[in-house]
Amino acid sequence: MKAAYINSFGGPEQIQYGDMPKPVPAADEILVRNRIIGVGKPDFLVRSGNDPYLAKSLPGLIIGNESAGIAEEVGPEVKGIKPGDKVAVLNATGCGSHAEYSCSKEQYVIKLPDGVEPEMVPGVLNLQVAYALLFDAGRLGEGDSMYISGAAGGIGTTMVQMAKTSGIRVIASASNEEKCAVLEQLGADTVFNYKEKDEKEIVLSATNGVGADVIYDQTAGKELAGKFDYLADFGQIILYNWLNGSPELPQLETIVKRAWHAQAIRSFSFHVYDNKLERRLSNAAKCFDMIRRGNVRPYVCKDFPLEEARAAHELLDSGSAIGKIIMHP
Ligand SMILES: NC(=O)c1ccc[n+]([C@@H]2O[C@H](COP(=O)([O-])OP(=O)(O)OC[C@H]3O[C@@H](n4cnc5c(N)ncnc54)[C@H](OP(=O)(O)O)[C@@H]3O)[C@@H](O)[C@H]2O)c1
Repeated sequence: MKAAYINSFGGPEQIQYGDMPKPVPAADEILVRNRIIGVGKPDFLVRSGNDPYLAKSLPGLIIGNESAGIAEEVGPEVKGIKPGDKVAVLNATGCGSHAEYSCSKEQYVIKLPDGVEPEMVPGVLNLQVAYALLFDAGRLGEGDSMYISGAAGGIGTTMVQMAKTSGIRVIASASNEEKCAVLEQLGADTVFNYKEKDEKEIVLSATNGVGADVIYDQTAGKELAGKFDYLADFGQIILYNWLNGSPELPQLETIVKRAWHAQAIRSFSFHVYDNKLERRLSNAAKCFDMIRRGNVRPYVCKDFPLEEARAAHELLDSGSAIGKIIMHP
């Protein structure tokens, strides 16, 4: 089969494209013929050798975390998937998806419901993380408000759509006008360029001075403490990455001293679902339902043929992508 693989960790230039052995499913695995392949941050981490959680063997490592396609063969211990089923795959190993075929254990293969084609699910991780951030971590509901910065990525664009279809007021920002235009197109209520406008001023003005019920933050660093000033009473900041470094202390003291606002901070990792298969599947079913009803349409930045995996990763690393980068075999 054709695949994109690496022999050394590093930049996109390490990616090779060529023939690799077609995988054979173990007793508890499913062989999937991939029809669409997602490219995202976890692939950057694995490719560059920066994922501390996953053991990888070089050379000949097929990278790729997610895909969707058709189950072609199933091992004898597989119970819920049969050949011919349409499926989405989120590989816990972080590897294997940048290929015509991939093998995964049953718990990482999710059957798609009728009315949802593999091509409609280019990034199952984006969908599931977006859903989890909004509804499990954020516990947002109709009439609530949220603010997300750097919102034009795969997760952010999905969150904006999911929030809008759920009656949540969305304030979103990005680093340039092109990204802002897409956020507006996706229905965000208030959009601004965070490099040019003052975040606190805009969020307070968009919420009549009350602040957002949830602020989603992927940067942390020294700016984090100031965000409590535009968080609503009973509101929470949800940290889902630390792009600008560790949150600067004393965070706890900041919160305690503002007890009359009853605010909170939550740190979130999708790994919270590692041993919660039923909940993860139930969340996935809700995501697929939003897709089936047409309320969420993953925003695709660019679709590359698999043989151009290197170019897809160059776009990923450039930071200029808007929405989801995809490939097809
Ligand atoms: N906690 C979890 O379990 C979990 C799971 C998956 C992903 N994540 C994290 O969620 C975030 C979004 O993921 P994604 O797949 O949507 O990523 P993505 O498509 O690459 O989008 C990331 C967005 O972040 C913004 N950004 C802000 N500061 C940045 C920086 N220093 N470097 C690069 N981008 C920066 C960019 O927008 P601007 O140019 O507008 O700033 C970009 O649009 C990432 O930080 C990812 O690591 C967390």
